[in-house]
Amino acid sequence: MPSPKATRSTARLVVLVSGEGTNLQALIDACRDADYGARVVAVGADRGKITALADACAGHAPDLIVLAGFMKLVGRAFLGSFGGRCVNTHPALLPSFPGAHGVRDALAHGVKVTGCTVFIVDEGVDAGPIVAQACVPVDDDDDEATLHERIKVTERALLVSTVGRMVREGWSVRGRKVRIGQRGR
Ligand code: GRF
Repeated sequence: MPSPKATRSTARLVVLVSGEGTNLQALIDACRDADYGARVVAVGADRGKITALADACAGHAPDLIVLAGFMKLVGRAFLGSFGGRCVNTHPALLPSFPGAHGVRDALAHGVKVTGCTVFIVDEGVDAGPIVAQACVPVDDDDDEATLHERIKVTERALLVSTVGRMVREGWSVRGRKVRIGQRGR
């Protein structure tokens, strides 16, 4: 009799990156465990034409697209194909401090706690429905680099656990409310 591992389908992830790729690496590491429930079938970086993105991703038949800190807006054609099936990660507690300088802006504001957010990508800038968040303390002596590094430790763990739960348990998006579990029902 086949084992449960052999019969359960493994979700196909396409991961798009802009930065150093440590979130991507964390996902790749997690996928080594068959129980994680996903595998990375393609990786893209924000180098080429953004107009080609939807077709390039579709060619890999992804179940979920993970923007692991991807810094470009994906555009309407992409969302037409993958809306509701694309998540991004942001190094602040949205809706506070969206945009390219979330860590710097949180620090400048003087917050004592910041964090990271996994969210469903929509047409806005870091504006989509929130899937998961985690808090990170701000130290008095932090600068942007030290704070970002501390956030990224938590961010990697949150992204890996959230993507894993989504692919294993399913998810639903109703308005701004995202629910993981019961295969999304
Ligand atoms: C992450 O903090 C991401 O949220 C932000 O840039 C960082 C990328 O890190 N946009 P890495 O490329 O995964 O190391």
